[in-house]
Amino acid sequence: MRPRKKKHLTERLERASAILYTEPPIFREALASRNARAVHLEIGCGKGSFAVQAAAANPDITFAALEREKNALVTALERAMSAELGNLMFILADAKRLAEYFEPCGVQRIYINFCDPWSSNKHADRRLTAPGFLALYKEILAAGGAVLFKTDSAELFEYSRRTLSAEGFRLSDEFAPWLTDYETKWLTLGRTIYKLTAYPPDA
Ligand SMILES: C[S@@+](CC[C@H](N)C(=O)[O-])C[C@H]1O[C@@H](n2cnc3c(N)ncnc32)[C@H](O)[C@@H]1O
Repeated sequence: MRPRKKKHLTERLERASAILYTEPPIFREALASRNARAVHLEIGCGKGSFAVQAAAANPDITFAALEREKNALVTALERAMSAELGNLMFILADAKRLAEYFEPCGVQRIYINFCDPWSSNKHADRRLTAPGFLALYKEILAAGGAVLFKTDSAELFEYSRRTLSAEGFRLSDEFAPWLTDYETKWLTLGRTIYKLTAYPPDA
């Protein structure tokens, strides 16, 4: 679902320029200068509730939250600025470009929360757990890294279990405690939430 067009979007994005990245070389340089102990990445962060909670709870970890939709991202940026977090960076880009933003083996954890299920098989390659995306995750994940995935779609969950297993990921049912905006909404409506953690095959 597309978020509603936000008022004064350009000005609001500009106000967040200290934490917003749109160019891979500039992001890579900023990330490298942090000498982070660990880098955690959320893909499709939407309005940012999960990323803000996770970054606030783990000040020694650098979080990057990637989103391609400006109208959602602006809320995430404003929440992060209000929380005055020094360890949360945002990327405005499509996940297809992950390998431009992150070094091989540069990320310890990838979170994918409530991504669009793309129910029609015609668009299966747009699912964030499609084989093309899993290949990118394997490239940027460090040894011992993991993908943590949550969805309210039973079909997407089954599809993801299949694609992850086929790509050699080992599945477990561990998960992180922080809720996303969509999760809060679905829990209120009594929907089931499906979760897994996937460990990539050893290189
Ligand atoms: C259903 S929303 C969930 C937002 C948030 N994770 C949550 O749980 O509240 C899915 C988000 O993923 C983003 N998204 C989907 N495909 C993406 C892609 N290829 N690259 C970047 N963002 C993507 C969408 O723009 C949307 O904001």
